[in-house]
Amino acid sequence: MIDHPTRDVGFGVYVHWPFCASKCPYCDFNSHVRHQPVDQERFLAAFKREIAHTAARIPGRTVTSIFFGGGTPSLMKPETVGAILDAIGGAWAMDPGAEVTLEANPTSVEAERFRGYRGAGINRVSLGVQALNDPDLRRLGRMHSVEEALSAVKIAASIFDRYSFDLIYARPGHTPEAWAAELEQAISHAVEHLSLYQLTIEPGTWFQRLYDAGKITVPDEETGRALYDITQETCEKHGLPAYEISNHARPGAESRHNLLYWRYGEYAGIGPGAHGRLVTGNARLATSTEKHPETWLELVEREGHGVIDEEVLTSEAEGDEFLLMGLRLKEGVDPRRFEAFTGKTLNQRRLRILEEEGLIQVDGSRLAVTPKGFPVLNAVIAELAA
Ligand SMILES: C[S@@+](CC[C@H](N)C(=O)[O-])C[C@H]1O[C@@H](n2cnc3c(N)ncnc32)[C@H](O)[C@@H]1O
Ligand code: SF4
Repeated sequence: MIDHPTRDVGFGVYVHWPFCASKCPYCDFNSHVRHQPVDQERFLAAFKREIAHTAARIPGRTVTSIFFGGGTPSLMKPETVGAILDAIGGAWAMDPGAEVTLEANPTSVEAERFRGYRGAGINRVSLGVQALNDPDLRRLGRMHSVEEALSAVKIAASIFDRYSFDLIYARPGHTPEAWAAELEQAISHAVEHLSLYQLTIEPGTWFQRLYDAGKITVPDEETGRALYDITQETCEKHGLPAYEISNHARPGAESRHNLLYWRYGEYAGIGPGAHGRLVTGNARLATSTEKHPETWLELVEREGHGVIDEEVLTSEAEGDEFLLMGLRLKEGVDPRRFEAFTGKTLNQRRLRILEEEGLIQVDGSRLAVTPKGFPVLNAVIAELAA
């Protein structure tokens, strides 16, 4: 029915829960702390309305993955999660093998809800462990200890077939030796998937103020590169190679929802500050909802949805996004999809230069960044997308 080179990549639903128990000083995600209990029933009603509104715009899809992200979705009651899943299941068909992930913070209070989440339909959790070192967890403003985090991982492993956890490396004072040991320890608790992010000093965060005032320093470029190399080598050695620049998995255990973004599929963004890419007719719409939780709530109650920005992507913008997302993946992209989006071929001269420099590999229907190219990924993408 729709002739668009995205049809067969799958359809995902992202649900954003915008609240956290406290704000971490490095984080610039859309997360807010409330000192009064959040009215989950009222938010649930709004989530349901926004789901119904989105389904009316893009009916007939089959959901291949759902992701509850945040913020801290593990502050949601299992009943709230279950009711949102029911609404999604009522709005679209569900693939029987759909991956349904919830991001959880690893405190003991939250781990107590894991069984309820499984009963509600969650089949994968992603835990924000961040560090396996108590002083660093405190510096990162986290509310859990290493012991609590490892216990939450153990509980997750006993309840869910699939789980992952996140660590942040290149933290202030982080040495290659300390990271190598920490990563080995992490891998001994990981079954199939790990997300390993290099700390970024994000504008507007506490860490940025401290950094600008010279009160924290992060590893220099050379140390950062050594930390990155250790990450690749250690994970590979243990059978968890990178399939994306920051994500490592046993082959077949990749996050299907995140693959959908990187393979430039179609997804609905539900909740405050969620982004979507909807394919209507032959065009791709980029949608963004109101970020502020209570403003979003009132907007949905008034209008039936919280979308405040919507743009039909030009074929050029689609081509750029496609490269920006796809080249993060080790598998790379199929250049023919770029041609289908843009009606143009990639710049052959630039491809040749990047290939001669050993930064990309072009092999028939695949174009992929090489291990040498990944540390300078942004420059490679800028060169191809220009
Ligand atoms: C938005 S958080 C949501 C998950 C959950 N609330 C938590 O913090 O555990 C998703 C992940 O982004 C990563 N992250 C957030 N801010 C970051 C930063 N400034 N640098 C690197 N990684 C960051 C963390 O690893 C975190 O687990
Ligand atoms: S890192 Fe996670 S817990 Fe911390 S403020 Fe951000 S979203 Fe909330």
